[in-house]
Amino acid sequence: MTTSTNEAHALEAPRSGRIAPKYTRNGSGRGNFEMLAWLFMRVSGVILVVLIFTHLFVNLVVGDGIHAVDFGFVAGKWANPVWQVWDLVMLWLAMLHGGNGVRTIINDYADKKATRMWLKTVLYVATAVIILLGTLVIFTFDPCPANAPADLIPDFCSSL
Ligand code: HEM
Repeated sequence: MTTSTNEAHALEAPRSGRIAPKYTRNGSGRGNFEMLAWLFMRVSGVILVVLIFTHLFVNLVVGDGIHAVDFGFVAGKWANPVWQVWDLVMLWLAMLHGGNGVRTIINDYADKKATRMWLKTVLYVATAVIILLGTLVIFTFDPCPANAPADLIPDFCSSL
Protein backbone atom coordinates (compact mmCIF):
# COMPACT_ATOMS: atom_id res chain seq x y z
CA MET A 1 0.00 0.00 0.00
CA THR A 2 1.30 3.44 -0.86
CA THR A 3 0.76 6.27 1.58
CA SER A 4 1.96 9.85 1.54
CA THR A 5 3.69 9.25 4.88
CA ASN A 6 5.91 6.48 3.47
CA GLU A 7 8.84 6.46 5.92
CA ALA A 8 11.42 5.68 3.23
CA HIS A 9 10.67 8.95 1.40
CA ALA A 10 9.96 11.21 4.37
CA LEU A 11 12.23 14.24 4.75
CA GLU A 12 13.93 14.23 8.13
CA ALA A 13 12.98 17.05 10.46
CA PRO A 14 15.68 19.73 10.53
CA ARG A 15 18.39 19.25 13.17
CA SER A 16 16.84 15.88 14.09
CA GLY A 17 19.91 14.11 15.36
CA ARG A 18 21.53 13.33 11.98
CA ILE A 19 24.10 16.10 12.56
CA ALA A 20 27.60 14.91 13.42
CA PRO A 21 28.60 15.95 16.98
CA LYS A 22 31.31 18.28 15.63
CA TYR A 23 28.60 20.42 14.00
CA THR A 24 26.39 20.82 17.06
CA ARG A 25 25.78 24.46 17.96
CA ASN A 26 26.33 25.96 21.36
CA GLY A 27 23.00 27.79 21.32
CA SER A 28 24.40 31.24 22.10
CA GLY A 29 21.22 33.30 21.84
CA ARG A 30 20.86 36.72 20.21
CA GLY A 31 18.32 38.31 22.54
CA ASN A 32 14.81 38.00 21.15
CA PHE A 33 15.76 38.50 17.49
CA GLU A 34 14.43 35.07 16.46
CA MET A 35 11.14 35.69 18.24
CA LEU A 36 10.77 39.04 16.43
CA ALA A 37 11.68 37.35 13.12
CA TRP A 38 8.99 34.68 13.79
CA LEU A 39 6.44 37.42 14.53
CA PHE A 40 7.49 39.37 11.41
CA MET A 41 6.75 36.31 9.21
CA ARG A 42 3.17 36.14 10.56
CA VAL A 43 2.48 39.89 10.35
CA SER A 44 4.10 40.36 6.91
CA GLY A 45 2.29 37.24 5.65
CA VAL A 46 -1.11 38.70 6.53
CA ILE A 47 -0.25 42.07 4.92
CA LEU A 48 1.16 40.32 1.82
CA VAL A 49 -2.14 38.49 1.27
CA VAL A 50 -3.90 41.87 0.88
CA LEU A 51 -1.08 43.47 -1.17
CA ILE A 52 -0.55 40.52 -3.54
CA PHE A 53 -4.19 39.61 -4.21
CA THR A 54 -5.19 43.24 -4.81
CA HIS A 55 -2.15 43.56 -7.13
CA LEU A 56 -3.16 40.44 -9.08
CA PHE A 57 -6.83 41.50 -9.27
CA VAL A 58 -6.05 45.05 -10.47
CA ASN A 59 -3.44 43.92 -13.03
CA LEU A 60 -4.99 40.73 -14.37
CA VAL A 61 -8.78 40.93 -13.89
CA VAL A 62 -10.05 44.54 -13.88
CA GLY A 63 -10.81 46.12 -17.31
CA ASP A 64 -9.10 44.28 -20.18
CA GLY A 65 -7.24 42.23 -17.59
CA ILE A 66 -3.94 40.66 -18.57
CA HIS A 67 -4.31 41.88 -22.20
CA ALA A 68 -3.92 45.50 -21.04
CA VAL A 69 -0.53 44.92 -19.38
CA ASP A 70 2.28 46.64 -21.29
CA PHE A 71 4.78 49.49 -20.77
CA GLY A 72 2.00 52.12 -20.89
CA PHE A 73 -0.04 50.23 -18.26
CA VAL A 74 2.88 50.11 -15.81
CA ALA A 75 3.76 53.75 -16.55
CA GLY A 76 0.15 54.77 -15.93
CA LYS A 77 0.07 52.97 -12.57
CA TRP A 78 3.36 54.46 -11.38
CA ALA A 79 2.14 57.96 -12.27
CA ASN A 80 -0.08 57.49 -9.20
CA PRO A 81 1.73 57.78 -5.82
CA VAL A 82 -0.69 55.25 -4.29
CA TRP A 83 0.56 52.49 -6.62
CA GLN A 84 4.17 53.62 -6.17
CA VAL A 85 3.84 53.17 -2.39
CA TRP A 86 1.79 49.96 -2.85
CA ASP A 87 4.47 48.37 -5.04
CA LEU A 88 7.26 49.67 -2.79
CA VAL A 89 5.72 48.09 0.34
CA MET A 90 4.98 44.88 -1.58
CA LEU A 91 8.59 44.73 -2.83
CA TRP A 92 10.13 45.34 0.61
CA LEU A 93 7.82 43.02 2.53
CA ALA A 94 8.03 40.18 -0.04
CA MET A 95 11.84 40.40 -0.17
CA LEU A 96 12.29 40.65 3.62
CA HIS A 97 9.69 37.90 4.21
CA GLY A 98 11.15 35.63 1.51
CA GLY A 99 14.72 36.43 2.59
CA ASN A 100 13.99 35.70 6.23
CA GLY A 101 12.22 32.47 5.23
CA VAL A 102 15.26 31.29 3.26
CA ARG A 103 17.54 32.38 6.17
CA THR A 104 15.51 30.04 8.41
CA ILE A 105 15.84 27.18 5.91
CA ILE A 106 19.62 27.72 5.65
CA ASN A 107 19.95 27.72 9.47
CA ASP A 108 17.86 24.54 9.65
CA TYR A 109 19.54 22.51 6.91
CA ALA A 110 23.15 23.69 6.45
CA ASP A 111 25.19 21.91 9.10
CA LYS A 112 28.59 23.56 8.70
CA LYS A 113 29.12 27.05 10.06
CA ALA A 114 31.07 28.13 6.94
CA THR A 115 28.31 26.80 4.63
CA ARG A 116 25.68 28.75 6.54
CA MET A 117 27.83 31.86 6.48
CA TRP A 118 28.41 31.73 2.69
CA LEU A 119 24.82 30.84 1.78
CA LYS A 120 23.53 33.68 3.96
CA THR A 121 26.07 36.12 2.52
CA VAL A 122 24.79 35.34 -1.01
CA LEU A 123 21.19 35.60 0.24
CA TYR A 124 21.72 38.98 1.96
CA VAL A 125 23.58 40.49 -1.01
CA ALA A 126 20.91 39.28 -3.49
CA THR A 127 18.11 40.55 -1.23
CA ALA A 128 19.74 43.97 -0.79
CA VAL A 129 20.46 44.37 -4.53
CA ILE A 130 16.87 43.51 -5.51
CA ILE A 131 15.38 45.82 -2.85
CA LEU A 132 17.66 48.72 -3.86
CA LEU A 133 17.21 48.26 -7.63
CA GLY A 134 13.44 47.84 -7.29
CA THR A 135 13.14 50.93 -5.10
CA LEU A 136 15.25 52.90 -7.56
CA VAL A 137 13.11 51.80 -10.52
CA ILE A 138 9.82 52.71 -8.79
CA PHE A 139 10.99 56.28 -8.08
CA THR A 140 13.15 57.07 -11.13
CA PHE A 141 10.92 55.45 -13.76
CA ASP A 142 10.40 57.69 -16.83
CA PRO A 143 6.88 57.08 -18.22
CA CYS A 144 7.53 59.18 -21.36
CA PRO A 145 10.98 58.24 -22.70
CA ALA A 146 12.18 60.47 -25.55
CA ASN A 147 11.64 59.09 -29.09
CA ALA A 148 9.45 56.18 -27.87
CA PRO A 149 6.65 55.10 -30.31
CA ALA A 150 3.41 56.87 -29.27
CA ASP A 151 1.37 53.64 -29.20
CA LEU A 152 3.64 52.10 -26.54
CA ILE A 153 3.62 54.92 -23.98
CA PRO A 154 0.71 56.23 -21.85
CA ASP A 155 -1.81 58.70 -23.32
CA PHE A 156 -0.82 61.53 -20.94
CA CYS A 157 2.67 61.72 -22.55
CA SER A 158 1.24 63.44 -25.66
CA SER A 159 -0.05 66.37 -23.56
CA LEU A 160 3.33 67.04 -21.94
C1 HEM B 1 0.66 35.53 0.16
C2 HEM B 1 1.02 35.88 1.36
C3 HEM B 1 1.96 35.07 2.22
C4 HEM B 1 1.66 34.51 3.43
C5 HEM B 1 0.32 34.54 4.17
C6 HEM B 1 2.87 33.86 3.93
C7 HEM B 1 2.98 33.25 5.18
C8 HEM B 1 4.11 32.65 5.65
C9 HEM B 1 4.31 32.16 7.01
C10 HEM B 1 3.31 32.24 8.15
C11 HEM B 1 5.55 31.61 7.05
C12 HEM B 1 6.24 30.97 8.26
C13 HEM B 1 6.15 29.47 8.17
C14 HEM B 1 6.84 28.78 9.34
O1 HEM B 1 7.52 29.45 10.12
O2 HEM B 1 6.70 27.56 9.44
C15 HEM B 1 6.15 31.74 5.75
C16 HEM B 1 7.38 31.26 5.40
C17 HEM B 1 8.00 31.53 4.21
N1 HEM B 1 7.55 32.35 3.19
FE1 HEM B 1 5.73 33.18 3.11
N2 HEM B 1 3.87 34.02 3.01
C18 HEM B 1 3.37 34.75 1.95
C19 HEM B 1 4.05 35.16 0.82
C20 HEM B 1 5.37 34.84 0.53
C21 HEM B 1 6.14 35.35 -0.59
C22 HEM B 1 5.62 36.38 -1.64
C23 HEM B 1 7.36 34.76 -0.53
C24 HEM B 1 8.55 34.93 -1.45
C25 HEM B 1 9.00 36.12 -1.79
C26 HEM B 1 7.37 33.88 0.62
C27 HEM B 1 8.43 33.09 1.01
C28 HEM B 1 8.49 32.36 2.19
C29 HEM B 1 9.60 31.51 2.57
C30 HEM B 1 10.87 31.24 1.75
C31 HEM B 1 9.29 30.99 3.84
C32 HEM B 1 10.10 30.00 4.68
C33 HEM B 1 9.52 28.64 4.46
C34 HEM B 1 9.84 27.69 5.58
O3 HEM B 1 10.16 28.13 6.71
O4 HEM B 1 9.72 26.48 5.35
N3 HEM B 1 6.15 33.94 1.24
N4 HEM B 1 5.26 32.38 4.91
